[in-house]
Amino acid sequence: MKRRLVVLTGAGMSAESGISTFRDSGGLWDKYPVEQVATPEGFAANPQLVLEFYNTRRKQLLDVKPNEGHLGLAALEKDFELRIITQNVDNLHERAGSSQVLHLHGELTKVRSTGDESLVYELSPENYEVKWGDKCEKGFQLRPHIVWFGEAVPMFDEAVEVARLADVFVVIGTSLNVYPAAGLINYVPRDIPIYLIDPKEVSTSRKDVFFIRKGASEGVKELRGKLRIEN
Ligand code: OAD
Repeated sequence: MKRRLVVLTGAGMSAESGISTFRDSGGLWDKYPVEQVATPEGFAANPQLVLEFYNTRRKQLLDVKPNEGHLGLAALEKDFELRIITQNVDNLHERAGSSQVLHLHGELTKVRSTGDESLVYELSPENYEVKWGDKCEKGFQLRPHIVWFGEAVPMFDEAVEVARLADVFVVIGTSLNVYPAAGLINYVPRDIPIYLIDPKEVSTSRKDVFFIRKGASEGVKELRGKLRIEN
Protein backbone atom coordinates (compact mmCIF):
# COMPACT_ATOMS: atom_id res chain seq x y z
CA MET A 1 0.00 0.00 0.00
CA LYS A 2 1.25 3.49 -0.81
CA ARG A 3 2.12 5.85 2.05
CA ARG A 4 -0.26 8.76 2.60
CA LEU A 5 1.38 12.09 1.80
CA VAL A 6 -0.63 15.15 2.79
CA VAL A 7 0.44 18.59 1.56
CA LEU A 8 -0.95 21.90 2.86
CA THR A 9 -0.29 24.74 0.44
CA GLY A 10 -0.67 28.52 0.54
CA ALA A 11 -0.09 31.49 -1.72
CA GLY A 12 3.69 30.91 -1.92
CA MET A 13 2.97 27.71 -3.86
CA SER A 14 1.73 29.79 -6.79
CA ALA A 15 4.15 32.74 -6.42
CA GLU A 16 6.55 31.34 -9.05
CA SER A 17 3.61 31.13 -11.46
CA GLY A 18 3.24 34.90 -11.11
CA ILE A 19 0.34 35.12 -8.67
CA SER A 20 1.12 37.47 -5.78
CA THR A 21 0.98 36.27 -2.22
CA PHE A 22 -1.13 38.15 0.35
CA ARG A 23 1.23 39.22 3.13
CA ASP A 24 4.65 39.59 1.48
CA SER A 25 5.49 43.24 0.77
CA GLY A 26 3.65 44.32 -2.39
CA GLY A 27 1.23 41.46 -1.76
CA LEU A 28 -2.49 41.59 -2.53
CA TRP A 29 -3.53 42.89 0.88
CA ASP A 30 -1.20 45.89 0.44
CA LYS A 31 -3.05 46.84 -2.74
CA TYR A 32 -6.63 45.97 -1.82
CA PRO A 33 -7.97 46.41 1.70
CA VAL A 34 -8.96 42.95 2.84
CA GLU A 35 -12.11 44.19 4.58
CA GLN A 36 -13.33 45.68 1.27
CA VAL A 37 -12.79 42.68 -0.99
CA ALA A 38 -12.74 39.61 1.26
CA THR A 39 -15.50 39.99 3.83
CA PRO A 40 -19.31 39.66 3.66
CA GLU A 41 -19.53 43.27 4.89
CA GLY A 42 -17.35 44.44 2.00
CA PHE A 43 -19.61 42.61 -0.46
CA ALA A 44 -22.73 44.14 1.10
CA ALA A 45 -21.20 47.64 0.95
CA ASN A 46 -19.92 47.51 -2.63
CA PRO A 47 -20.74 44.29 -4.51
CA GLN A 48 -19.60 45.69 -7.87
CA LEU A 49 -16.10 46.34 -6.53
CA VAL A 50 -15.87 42.86 -5.03
CA LEU A 51 -17.16 41.14 -8.19
CA GLU A 52 -14.63 43.12 -10.26
CA PHE A 53 -11.80 42.14 -7.89
CA TYR A 54 -12.53 38.44 -8.46
CA ASN A 55 -13.11 38.94 -12.21
CA THR A 56 -9.58 40.36 -12.34
CA ARG A 57 -8.21 37.39 -10.36
CA ARG A 58 -9.92 34.98 -12.79
CA LYS A 59 -8.56 36.81 -15.81
CA GLN A 60 -5.06 36.55 -14.32
CA LEU A 61 -5.57 32.83 -13.81
CA LEU A 62 -6.03 32.41 -17.58
CA ASP A 63 -2.58 33.90 -18.16
CA VAL A 64 -0.56 31.78 -15.70
CA LYS A 65 0.62 28.19 -15.63
CA PRO A 66 1.47 25.63 -12.95
CA ASN A 67 5.14 25.88 -11.90
CA GLU A 68 7.70 23.14 -11.29
CA GLY A 69 6.49 22.90 -7.70
CA HIS A 70 2.90 22.08 -8.69
CA LEU A 71 4.17 19.63 -11.32
CA GLY A 72 6.64 17.99 -8.93
CA LEU A 73 3.88 17.42 -6.38
CA ALA A 74 1.51 15.96 -8.97
CA ALA A 75 4.26 13.53 -10.01
CA LEU A 76 4.42 12.23 -6.43
CA GLU A 77 1.06 10.51 -7.00
CA LYS A 78 3.06 7.71 -8.60
CA ASP A 79 4.64 6.86 -5.28
CA PHE A 80 2.20 8.13 -2.66
CA GLU A 81 -1.47 8.32 -1.91
CA LEU A 82 -1.31 12.11 -2.24
CA ARG A 83 -3.86 14.52 -0.82
CA ILE A 84 -3.44 18.25 -1.29
CA ILE A 85 -5.17 20.67 1.07
CA THR A 86 -4.85 24.13 -0.38
CA GLN A 87 -5.73 27.58 0.90
CA ASN A 88 -5.35 28.79 -2.68
CA VAL A 89 -8.36 29.62 -4.77
CA ASP A 90 -6.53 29.11 -8.08
CA ASN A 91 -6.70 25.83 -10.02
CA LEU A 92 -2.98 25.31 -10.60
CA HIS A 93 -2.74 22.05 -8.63
CA GLU A 94 -5.49 20.53 -10.76
CA ARG A 95 -3.96 21.86 -13.97
CA ALA A 96 -0.63 20.30 -12.94
CA GLY A 97 -2.37 16.92 -12.70
CA SER A 98 -3.09 16.52 -8.99
CA SER A 99 -6.26 14.48 -8.64
CA GLN A 100 -7.16 14.93 -4.96
CA VAL A 101 -7.27 18.62 -4.09
CA LEU A 102 -9.32 20.00 -1.24
CA HIS A 103 -9.90 23.77 -1.42
CA LEU A 104 -10.24 25.19 2.08
CA HIS A 105 -10.92 28.77 0.97
CA GLY A 106 -13.04 28.11 -2.11
CA GLU A 107 -12.38 28.25 -5.83
CA LEU A 108 -12.02 31.20 -8.19
CA THR A 109 -13.55 29.29 -11.08
CA LYS A 110 -16.84 28.78 -9.23
CA VAL A 111 -19.68 31.05 -8.16
CA ARG A 112 -22.67 30.40 -5.99
CA SER A 113 -26.10 31.75 -5.20
CA THR A 114 -26.37 34.30 -2.40
CA GLY A 115 -29.79 32.84 -1.55
CA ASP A 116 -29.06 29.09 -1.69
CA GLU A 117 -25.48 28.08 -1.01
CA SER A 118 -26.03 24.61 -2.48
CA LEU A 119 -26.30 26.21 -5.93
CA VAL A 120 -22.69 26.31 -7.10
CA TYR A 121 -21.75 26.91 -10.75
CA GLU A 122 -18.49 26.34 -12.63
CA LEU A 123 -17.46 29.27 -14.82
CA SER A 124 -15.89 28.58 -18.21
CA PRO A 125 -12.63 30.25 -19.26
CA GLU A 126 -14.58 32.08 -22.01
CA ASN A 127 -17.18 33.32 -19.58
CA TYR A 128 -15.37 34.06 -16.35
CA GLU A 129 -16.87 37.43 -15.48
CA VAL A 130 -19.67 37.84 -12.96
CA LYS A 131 -21.60 41.11 -12.85
CA TRP A 132 -24.04 42.69 -10.45
CA GLY A 133 -27.43 41.45 -11.73
CA ASP A 134 -26.17 37.96 -12.71
CA LYS A 135 -28.53 35.58 -10.94
CA CYS A 136 -28.90 31.90 -10.07
CA GLU A 137 -31.85 29.84 -11.34
CA LYS A 138 -33.84 30.88 -8.26
CA GLY A 139 -33.31 34.56 -8.97
CA PHE A 140 -30.65 35.35 -6.34
CA GLN A 141 -27.50 37.34 -7.08
CA LEU A 142 -24.37 35.25 -7.73
CA ARG A 143 -21.26 35.71 -5.58
CA PRO A 144 -17.71 34.33 -5.70
CA HIS A 145 -17.38 30.78 -4.28
CA ILE A 146 -14.75 32.03 -1.85
CA VAL A 147 -14.54 31.73 1.92
CA TRP A 148 -14.31 35.31 3.14
CA PHE A 149 -13.01 36.43 6.50
CA GLY A 150 -15.67 35.92 9.14
CA GLU A 151 -17.27 33.03 7.22
CA ALA A 152 -17.27 29.35 8.15
CA VAL A 153 -14.76 27.03 6.47
CA PRO A 154 -16.98 24.12 5.41
CA MET A 155 -14.14 21.88 4.23
CA PHE A 156 -12.19 22.14 7.47
CA ASP A 157 -13.56 18.97 9.13
CA GLU A 158 -12.66 16.88 6.12
CA ALA A 159 -9.19 18.48 6.06
CA VAL A 160 -8.71 17.50 9.72
CA GLU A 161 -9.55 13.87 8.91
CA VAL A 162 -7.05 13.92 6.05
CA ALA A 163 -4.33 15.47 8.25
CA ARG A 164 -4.92 12.91 11.01
CA LEU A 165 -4.27 10.04 8.61
CA ALA A 166 -1.04 11.40 7.14
CA ASP A 167 2.11 9.26 7.04
CA VAL A 168 4.10 12.30 5.89
CA PHE A 169 2.90 15.93 6.14
CA VAL A 170 4.27 18.83 4.10
CA VAL A 171 3.53 22.56 4.33
CA ILE A 172 4.41 24.80 1.37
CA GLY A 173 4.24 28.58 0.99
CA THR A 174 1.93 29.68 3.75
CA SER A 175 2.64 32.20 6.50
CA LEU A 176 0.33 30.16 8.79
CA ASN A 177 -1.45 33.33 9.84
CA VAL A 178 -5.00 32.40 8.96
CA TYR A 179 -7.04 30.05 11.13
CA PRO A 180 -8.42 27.46 11.14
CA ALA A 181 -6.13 26.42 8.22
CA ALA A 182 -2.97 27.23 10.18
CA GLY A 183 -4.11 24.92 12.98
CA LEU A 184 -4.24 21.83 10.75
CA ILE A 185 -0.63 21.03 11.58
CA ASN A 186 -1.72 20.35 15.18
CA TYR A 187 -3.83 17.40 14.01
CA VAL A 188 -0.86 15.63 12.44
CA PRO A 189 0.11 12.71 14.69
CA ARG A 190 3.24 13.30 16.79
CA ASP A 191 5.40 10.58 15.23
CA ILE A 192 4.82 11.70 11.63
CA PRO A 193 7.54 13.66 9.79
CA ILE A 194 6.57 17.25 8.90
CA TYR A 195 8.45 19.23 6.23
CA LEU A 196 7.96 22.97 5.74
CA ILE A 197 9.04 24.57 2.45
CA ASP A 198 9.29 28.38 2.45
CA PRO A 199 12.08 30.81 1.53
CA LYS A 200 11.34 32.79 4.71
CA GLU A 201 11.15 31.74 8.31
CA VAL A 202 7.67 30.66 9.34
CA SER A 203 6.77 30.16 12.96
CA THR A 204 4.69 27.14 13.84
CA SER A 205 3.36 25.65 17.02
CA ARG A 206 5.10 22.33 16.18
CA LYS A 207 8.73 22.08 17.13
CA ASP A 208 9.37 18.83 15.22
CA VAL A 209 9.39 20.38 11.74
CA PHE A 210 12.14 19.90 9.10
CA PHE A 211 12.58 23.25 7.35
CA ILE A 212 13.47 23.43 3.66
CA ARG A 213 14.31 27.12 3.24
CA LYS A 214 13.62 27.34 -0.51
CA GLY A 215 10.99 28.45 -2.99
CA ALA A 216 8.31 25.98 -4.03
CA SER A 217 9.97 24.60 -7.19
CA GLU A 218 13.40 24.00 -5.66
CA GLY A 219 11.85 22.97 -2.37
CA VAL A 220 9.69 20.26 -3.91
CA LYS A 221 12.78 18.91 -5.71
CA GLU A 222 14.61 18.70 -2.41
CA LEU A 223 11.59 17.09 -0.80
CA ARG A 224 11.57 14.37 -3.44
CA GLY A 225 15.18 13.63 -2.49
CA LYS A 226 14.30 13.46 1.20
CA LEU A 227 11.41 11.13 0.45
CA ARG A 228 13.87 9.09 -1.64
CA ILE A 229 12.09 9.56 -4.93
CA GLU A 230 14.26 9.58 -8.08
CA ASN A 231 13.94 12.89 -9.95
P1 OAD B 1 0.61 34.60 2.81
O1 OAD B 1 0.77 35.71 1.80
O2 OAD B 1 0.19 34.97 4.18
O3 OAD B 1 1.96 33.78 2.92
C1 OAD B 1 2.68 33.40 1.79
C2 OAD B 1 3.89 32.60 2.20
O4 OAD B 1 4.52 32.17 1.01
C3 OAD B 1 4.94 33.37 3.03
O5 OAD B 1 5.34 32.59 4.13
C4 OAD B 1 6.08 33.55 2.02
O6 OAD B 1 7.37 33.57 2.64
C5 OAD B 1 5.92 32.32 1.16
N1 OAD B 1 6.51 32.42 -0.19
C6 OAD B 1 6.77 33.52 -0.93
N2 OAD B 1 7.32 33.17 -2.11
C7 OAD B 1 7.41 31.81 -2.12
C8 OAD B 1 7.90 30.84 -3.05
N3 OAD B 1 8.40 31.19 -4.23
N4 OAD B 1 7.82 29.53 -2.72
C9 OAD B 1 7.32 29.14 -1.51
N5 OAD B 1 6.86 30.01 -0.59
C10 OAD B 1 6.90 31.33 -0.89
O7 OAD B 1 -0.42 33.55 2.14
P2 OAD B 1 -1.24 32.37 2.82
O8 OAD B 1 -0.56 31.85 4.04
O9 OAD B 1 -1.61 31.42 1.76
O10 OAD B 1 -7.49 33.69 2.41
O11 OAD B 1 -2.55 33.14 3.27
C11 OAD B 1 -3.60 32.43 3.85
C12 OAD B 1 -4.93 33.04 3.49
O12 OAD B 1 -4.92 34.43 3.77
C13 OAD B 1 -5.25 32.97 2.02
O13 OAD B 1 -5.82 31.74 1.65
C14 OAD B 1 -6.24 34.09 1.84
C15 OAD B 1 -5.52 35.14 2.67
O14 OAD B 1 -6.27 36.13 3.19
C16 OAD B 1 -8.62 34.13 1.90
O15 OAD B 1 -8.70 34.89 0.96
C17 OAD B 1 -9.82 33.62 2.63
